[in-house]
Amino acid sequence: MEIKSIFVVGAGFMGAGIAQVGAQAGYEMYLFDIAPAAVEKGIGGIKKLLSKKVEKGTMTQEALDGTMALIKASTSLDDAANVDLVIEAVYENADLKKDIFSKLDAICKPDCILATNTSSIPITSIAAAVKRTDKFIGMHFFSPVPVMRLCEIIRAIKTSDETIEVVAEVAQKMGKVTVVAKDVPGFIVNRINSALRCEAYKCMEEGVASIEDIDKAMKAGANHPMGPFELADFVGLDVNYSVLSTLYAGYKDSKFAPNLTLEKLVIAGDLGRKTGKGWYDYTSGEKKPRTDVKF
Ligand SMILES: NC(=O)c1ccc[n+]([C@@H]2O[C@H](COP(=O)([O-])OP(=O)(O)OC[C@H]3O[C@@H](n4cnc5c(N)ncnc54)[C@H](O)[C@@H]3O)[C@@H](O)[C@H]2O)c1
Repeated sequence: MEIKSIFVVGAGFMGAGIAQVGAQAGYEMYLFDIAPAAVEKGIGGIKKLLSKKVEKGTMTQEALDGTMALIKASTSLDDAANVDLVIEAVYENADLKKDIFSKLDAICKPDCILATNTSSIPITSIAAAVKRTDKFIGMHFFSPVPVMRLCEIIRAIKTSDETIEVVAEVAQKMGKVTVVAKDVPGFIVNRINSALRCEAYKCMEEGVASIEDIDKAMKAGANHPMGPFELADFVGLDVNYSVLSTLYAGYKDSKFAPNLTLEKLVIAGDLGRKTGKGWYDYTSGEKKPRTDVKF
């Protein structure tokens, strides 16, 4: 099956990024959101990003115009009636996702593939909301989508081999490296990264080294671009906490038990960079050790 048109549901951070890489790969993209302002913002953001490339000379104005012409704003799920693939990127809420897919199952043509970008909800549980379970799959992009090279392709229990092949080809055309993973909590990257982050939290709690030194060590010694604490602040401690809770519940393995200090920071509303404070203090505009709490 050849994919020509793709309908993206949810025009937030991930949805807009997916629309961008899809259009850059030559697909006809539809960008839909329950909030029309989000679609406008998403398309405006893509244009701004690509304009910077034109200014730098890494993209021609012609290529920008061609890419933008492939992105259509949508205000109705009915616009998905004739597309070949749907990629959903709405809030991380299982009931919301199931509701959208059961509607899309009735709207989309029979051979249309349905994909979700969820990072933590079992793909098989969302697939249960549709009849075409063989055409239901996970496409887990990483943020920011135009920059990060990986797309994990997640096989739900009834996903067909053909669906996997078709979707992998789409992701590769979008410039992504693809890997196929089973439908397990955290898939590959979030599972391994979470175990690493939990070990870093343990080192901190045991007093092995300071937060700053653990980050410094992992950057200089393991060549990680960011230390585990810096990365947690960047992603958001609430997101980190919810990923760990999902892994802990899924594997019933204490290795993933959310760290108590992390839990306290989340309860206190210190969620990382986005709130100005997390494992570090960013309120001065620079990353500094926290002096108002004792870890
Ligand atoms: N942000 C990340 O780092 C990241 C990485 C990988 C996967 N994900 C997953 O991608 C999904 C989206 O994440 P995000 O960070 O882009 O979220 P976001 O909050 O930036 O965007 C979500 C969008 O969904 C829209 N929406 C809500 N209800 C809707 C509905 N009924 N119909 C259509 N649109 C609706 C919202 O208006 C919003 O614009 C989540 O499932 C998340 O787990 C996120």
